[in-house]
Amino acid sequence: MIYPIVVYGDPVLKKKAENIEKGTDLSDLVTDMFETMESAHGIGLAAPQIGKSIRLFVVDGRPMEDDETKDFVKTFVNPQIIKEEGDEWAFEEGCLSIPNIREEIERPEKLRIKYFDENWNEHEEEFDGMKARIIQHEYDHIEGILFTDYLTPFKKRMLKGKLQNITKGKMKVDYRVAIPQKR
Ligand code: NI
Repeated sequence: MIYPIVVYGDPVLKKKAENIEKGTDLSDLVTDMFETMESAHGIGLAAPQIGKSIRLFVVDGRPMEDDETKDFVKTFVNPQIIKEEGDEWAFEEGCLSIPNIREEIERPEKLRIKYFDENWNEHEEEFDGMKARIIQHEYDHIEGILFTDYLTPFKKRMLKGKLQNITKGKMKVDYRVAIPQKR
């Protein structure tokens, strides 16, 4: 099942998401999230983006057509970033919940994360570069943070009109979205 994607202005995107009870059957939800992400050509999708305030996100680096991320297909359940380190580097990020806006965001290059996969096997791993970047962006979603929160007040003012239009549903997107005022 393909979910409509919740867009900027919806309170669910600003909420810290709740842990999922260990052992919960997530197979249908995870399948649906991958399907939803693929239909929107995304490389990551967090549960709040389909209106569910729970600590779960999926990633699929394959659309980037880059050697670094070509095998990066994973599910993160109740993840916990243990540490972030390394130099900050800038990259132009986008977000399925903020269509047609891309901005340079600085993030540390490495991280260590503890998480469960969709079968409740526990993992602790290190990621760097683009994989770390994708995780940091999605992890922010379950913390109620959007990339626009990192922008300078000046940049935010410049984007204000565009962001308000997204909240009103006045934008072009080629995937299904849930407009905040109509939800
Ligand atoms: Ni996003």
